[in-house]
Amino acid sequence: MKILGVIGSKRKKGNTSCLVQEAIKAAQKEGAETELIFLGDYSIKDCTGCEGCKDTLKCVINDDMQKIYPLLLEADGIILGSPTYFYNISADMKAFIDRCYCFEVFAEDDRSCWLGINEVLGGKYAVVIAVCEQHDEKDMGFTPEAMSKPLEALGYRVVDMVRVLGLFKAGEALQDNKALEQSRKAGERLVKTIKLRKDTETKIKELKKTYN
Ligand SMILES: Cc1cc2nc3c(=O)[nH]c(=O)nc-3n(C[C@H](O)[C@H](O)[C@H](O)COP(=O)(O)O)c2cc1C
Repeated sequence: MKILGVIGSKRKKGNTSCLVQEAIKAAQKEGAETELIFLGDYSIKDCTGCEGCKDTLKCVINDDMQKIYPLLLEADGIILGSPTYFYNISADMKAFIDRCYCFEVFAEDDRSCWLGINEVLGGKYAVVIAVCEQHDEKDMGFTPEAMSKPLEALGYRVVDMVRVLGLFKAGEALQDNKALEQSRKAGERLVKTIKLRKDTETKIKELKKTYN
Protein backbone atom coordinates (compact mmCIF):
# COMPACT_ATOMS: atom_id res chain seq x y z
CA MET A 1 0.00 0.00 0.00
CA LYS A 2 1.37 3.40 -0.98
CA ILE A 3 0.61 6.75 0.63
CA LEU A 4 1.72 10.06 -0.86
CA GLY A 5 2.10 13.16 1.32
CA VAL A 6 1.95 16.54 -0.45
CA ILE A 7 3.05 19.69 1.39
CA GLY A 8 1.78 23.02 0.09
CA SER A 9 3.92 25.34 2.25
CA LYS A 10 7.35 26.51 1.15
CA ARG A 11 8.47 26.44 4.80
CA LYS A 12 10.13 23.04 4.98
CA LYS A 13 10.22 23.20 8.78
CA GLY A 14 6.83 24.90 8.95
CA ASN A 15 3.66 23.76 10.62
CA THR A 16 2.04 22.11 7.61
CA SER A 17 5.23 20.16 7.02
CA CYS A 18 5.39 19.00 10.69
CA LEU A 19 1.79 17.83 10.67
CA VAL A 20 1.83 16.10 7.29
CA GLN A 21 5.05 14.35 8.35
CA GLU A 22 3.37 13.24 11.59
CA ALA A 23 0.49 11.74 9.59
CA ILE A 24 2.97 10.09 7.22
CA LYS A 25 4.94 8.57 10.13
CA ALA A 26 1.71 7.14 11.56
CA ALA A 27 0.88 5.67 8.15
CA GLN A 28 4.33 4.06 8.04
CA LYS A 29 3.78 2.56 11.51
CA GLU A 30 0.55 1.04 10.21
CA GLY A 31 2.59 -0.65 7.48
CA ALA A 32 2.24 1.69 4.50
CA GLU A 33 5.00 2.55 2.06
CA THR A 34 5.18 6.35 1.99
CA GLU A 35 6.55 9.20 -0.08
CA LEU A 36 6.61 12.86 0.82
CA ILE A 37 6.86 15.77 -1.60
CA PHE A 38 7.25 19.51 -1.00
CA LEU A 39 5.51 21.32 -3.84
CA GLY A 40 8.07 24.12 -3.44
CA ASP A 41 10.74 21.75 -4.76
CA TYR A 42 8.84 21.38 -8.04
CA SER A 43 8.25 23.88 -10.78
CA ILE A 44 4.52 23.61 -11.46
CA LYS A 45 3.00 26.00 -13.98
CA ASP A 46 -0.64 27.10 -13.77
CA CYS A 47 -3.25 25.15 -15.73
CA THR A 48 -3.93 27.12 -18.92
CA GLY A 49 -7.35 25.59 -19.56
CA CYS A 50 -6.19 24.46 -23.00
CA GLU A 51 -8.14 21.16 -22.75
CA GLY A 52 -5.11 19.43 -24.29
CA CYS A 53 -5.66 16.58 -21.82
CA LYS A 54 -9.24 15.98 -22.94
CA ASP A 55 -8.75 12.77 -24.93
CA THR A 56 -5.62 11.33 -23.34
CA LEU A 57 -5.77 12.20 -19.60
CA LYS A 58 -2.23 13.50 -20.08
CA CYS A 59 -1.43 17.14 -19.40
CA VAL A 60 0.45 18.73 -22.30
CA ILE A 61 2.49 21.11 -20.11
CA ASN A 62 5.99 19.74 -19.84
CA ASP A 63 7.14 20.66 -16.34
CA ASP A 64 7.77 18.99 -12.98
CA MET A 65 4.12 18.00 -12.60
CA GLN A 66 4.98 15.20 -15.03
CA LYS A 67 7.07 13.69 -12.20
CA ILE A 68 4.12 13.82 -9.81
CA TYR A 69 1.42 12.29 -12.05
CA PRO A 70 2.87 8.74 -11.84
CA LEU A 71 3.06 9.06 -8.04
CA LEU A 72 -0.64 9.97 -7.99
CA LEU A 73 -1.53 7.04 -10.22
CA GLU A 74 0.40 4.64 -7.96
CA ALA A 75 -0.70 5.86 -4.53
CA ASP A 76 -3.63 4.18 -2.78
CA GLY A 77 -3.98 7.18 -0.50
CA ILE A 78 -2.98 10.82 -0.42
CA ILE A 79 -2.42 13.37 2.35
CA LEU A 80 -2.68 17.02 1.27
CA GLY A 81 -1.54 19.77 3.63
CA SER A 82 -1.75 23.52 3.16
CA PRO A 83 -1.39 26.61 5.30
CA THR A 84 -4.19 29.14 5.11
CA TYR A 85 -3.24 32.05 2.88
CA PHE A 86 -5.99 34.68 2.91
CA TYR A 87 -8.76 32.23 3.83
CA ASN A 88 -7.69 29.74 1.18
CA ILE A 89 -4.95 27.26 0.20
CA SER A 90 -1.44 28.35 -0.83
CA ALA A 91 -0.74 29.16 -4.47
CA ASP A 92 1.48 26.04 -4.72
CA MET A 93 -1.37 23.81 -3.59
CA LYS A 94 -3.85 25.52 -5.92
CA ALA A 95 -1.54 25.10 -8.93
CA PHE A 96 -1.03 21.42 -8.04
CA ILE A 97 -4.78 20.80 -7.69
CA ASP A 98 -5.64 22.62 -10.93
CA ARG A 99 -3.08 20.54 -12.81
CA CYS A 100 -4.96 17.41 -11.67
CA TYR A 101 -7.75 18.52 -14.01
CA CYS A 102 -6.36 16.08 -16.60
CA PHE A 103 -7.62 13.30 -14.28
CA GLU A 104 -11.23 14.46 -14.71
CA VAL A 105 -13.11 12.90 -17.60
CA PHE A 106 -16.19 14.37 -19.29
CA ALA A 107 -18.61 12.78 -21.74
CA GLU A 108 -18.02 14.38 -25.11
CA ASP A 109 -21.67 15.11 -25.86
CA ASP A 110 -22.75 16.04 -22.33
CA ARG A 111 -20.34 17.67 -19.90
CA SER A 112 -22.78 17.17 -17.05
CA CYS A 113 -21.64 13.50 -17.17
CA TRP A 114 -18.17 13.28 -15.65
CA LEU A 115 -15.97 11.28 -13.32
CA GLY A 116 -12.62 11.37 -11.60
CA ILE A 117 -10.16 8.72 -12.73
CA ASN A 118 -9.90 7.31 -9.21
CA GLU A 119 -13.47 6.10 -9.55
CA VAL A 120 -12.16 3.87 -12.33
CA LEU A 121 -8.88 2.94 -10.61
CA GLY A 122 -10.87 1.72 -7.58
CA GLY A 123 -11.33 3.05 -4.06
CA LYS A 124 -8.75 5.68 -3.21
CA TYR A 125 -8.73 7.63 0.02
CA ALA A 126 -7.44 10.98 1.23
CA VAL A 127 -6.76 13.15 4.26
CA VAL A 128 -6.48 16.94 4.28
CA ILE A 129 -4.58 19.00 6.85
CA ALA A 130 -5.13 22.76 7.10
CA VAL A 131 -3.17 25.10 9.35
CA CYS A 132 -3.82 28.74 10.20
CA GLU A 133 -2.62 31.41 12.59
CA GLN A 134 -5.85 32.77 13.99
CA HIS A 135 -7.87 31.04 16.72
CA ASP A 136 -11.30 31.44 15.17
CA GLU A 137 -12.21 28.77 12.61
CA LYS A 138 -13.78 31.38 10.34
CA ASP A 139 -10.28 32.80 9.73
CA MET A 140 -9.30 29.47 8.14
CA GLY A 141 -11.86 30.29 5.46
CA PHE A 142 -12.12 27.69 2.70
CA THR A 143 -8.73 26.03 3.25
CA PRO A 144 -9.89 22.48 4.14
CA GLU A 145 -12.72 22.47 1.57
CA ALA A 146 -10.47 23.91 -1.17
CA MET A 147 -8.57 20.61 -0.89
CA SER A 148 -11.35 18.17 -0.03
CA LYS A 149 -13.83 19.19 -2.74
CA PRO A 150 -11.39 18.72 -5.66
CA LEU A 151 -10.20 15.44 -4.11
CA GLU A 152 -13.79 14.22 -4.02
CA ALA A 153 -14.28 15.28 -7.64
CA LEU A 154 -11.17 13.27 -8.53
CA GLY A 155 -12.77 10.19 -6.94
CA TYR A 156 -11.05 10.09 -3.55
CA ARG A 157 -13.07 9.62 -0.38
CA VAL A 158 -11.80 12.06 2.22
CA VAL A 159 -11.63 10.11 5.49
CA ASP A 160 -10.37 12.91 7.75
CA MET A 161 -10.06 16.69 7.69
CA VAL A 162 -7.59 18.04 10.24
CA ARG A 163 -8.09 21.73 11.04
CA VAL A 164 -5.39 23.27 13.21
CA LEU A 165 -5.81 26.82 14.49
CA GLY A 166 -3.43 29.15 16.31
CA LEU A 167 -0.07 28.22 14.75
CA PHE A 168 2.12 31.00 13.39
CA LYS A 169 5.89 30.52 13.78
CA ALA A 170 7.50 27.76 11.71
CA GLY A 171 7.62 24.52 13.70
CA GLU A 172 5.25 25.62 16.49
CA ALA A 173 3.18 22.58 15.55
CA LEU A 174 5.76 20.35 17.26
CA GLN A 175 4.62 21.79 20.62
CA ASP A 176 0.93 21.31 19.83
CA ASN A 177 0.19 17.84 21.14
CA LYS A 178 -3.46 17.97 20.12
CA ALA A 179 -2.58 18.84 16.52
CA LEU A 180 0.09 16.14 16.39
CA GLU A 181 -2.37 13.58 17.76
CA GLN A 182 -5.07 14.61 15.25
CA SER A 183 -2.57 14.24 12.41
CA ARG A 184 -1.37 10.84 13.65
CA LYS A 185 -4.98 9.64 13.93
CA ALA A 186 -5.70 10.86 10.40
CA GLY A 187 -2.70 8.95 9.00
CA GLU A 188 -3.78 5.81 10.85
CA ARG A 189 -7.37 6.15 9.70
CA LEU A 190 -6.21 6.48 6.11
CA VAL A 191 -4.21 3.24 6.21
CA LYS A 192 -6.86 1.35 8.19
CA THR A 193 -9.50 2.37 5.66
CA ILE A 194 -7.35 1.15 2.76
CA LYS A 195 -6.70 -2.15 4.57
CA LEU A 196 -10.44 -2.52 5.13
CA ARG A 197 -11.00 -1.91 1.45
CA LYS A 198 -8.49 -4.58 0.47
CA ASP A 199 -10.00 -7.11 2.95
CA THR A 200 -13.49 -6.34 1.69
CA GLU A 201 -12.38 -6.90 -1.90
CA THR A 202 -11.33 -10.44 -0.88
CA LYS A 203 -14.62 -11.00 0.96
CA ILE A 204 -16.61 -9.88 -2.10
CA LYS A 205 -14.72 -12.38 -4.28
CA GLU A 206 -15.66 -15.15 -1.80
CA LEU A 207 -19.25 -13.91 -1.64
CA LYS A 208 -19.57 -14.01 -5.43
CA LYS A 209 -18.35 -17.61 -5.44
CA THR A 210 -21.21 -18.60 -3.08
CA TYR A 211 -23.73 -17.48 -5.73
CA ASN A 212 -22.12 -19.42 -8.58
C1 LIG B 1 0.31 35.20 2.64
C2 LIG B 1 -0.20 34.71 3.97
C3 LIG B 1 -1.55 34.76 4.21
C4 LIG B 1 -2.06 34.27 5.41
N1 LIG B 1 -3.41 34.29 5.60
C5 LIG B 1 -3.94 33.81 6.78
C6 LIG B 1 -5.35 33.81 7.00
O1 LIG B 1 -6.14 34.20 6.15
N2 LIG B 1 -5.80 33.32 8.19
C7 LIG B 1 -4.95 32.87 9.17
O2 LIG B 1 -5.42 32.48 10.24
N3 LIG B 1 -3.61 32.80 8.95
C8 LIG B 1 -3.07 33.25 7.79
N4 LIG B 1 -1.71 33.20 7.57
C9 LIG B 1 -0.83 32.58 8.60
C10 LIG B 1 -0.43 31.11 8.25
O3 LIG B 1 -1.53 30.35 7.87
C11 LIG B 1 0.25 30.45 9.45
O4 LIG B 1 1.39 31.18 9.82
C12 LIG B 1 0.63 29.00 9.23
O5 LIG B 1 1.07 28.44 10.44
C13 LIG B 1 1.72 28.84 8.16
O6 LIG B 1 1.94 27.48 7.91
P1 LIG B 1 3.39 26.90 7.53
O7 LIG B 1 4.22 27.00 8.78
O8 LIG B 1 3.12 25.49 7.16
O9 LIG B 1 3.92 27.70 6.40
C14 LIG B 1 -1.18 33.73 6.39
C15 LIG B 1 0.21 33.70 6.13
C16 LIG B 1 0.70 34.19 4.95
C17 LIG B 1 2.18 34.15 4.68
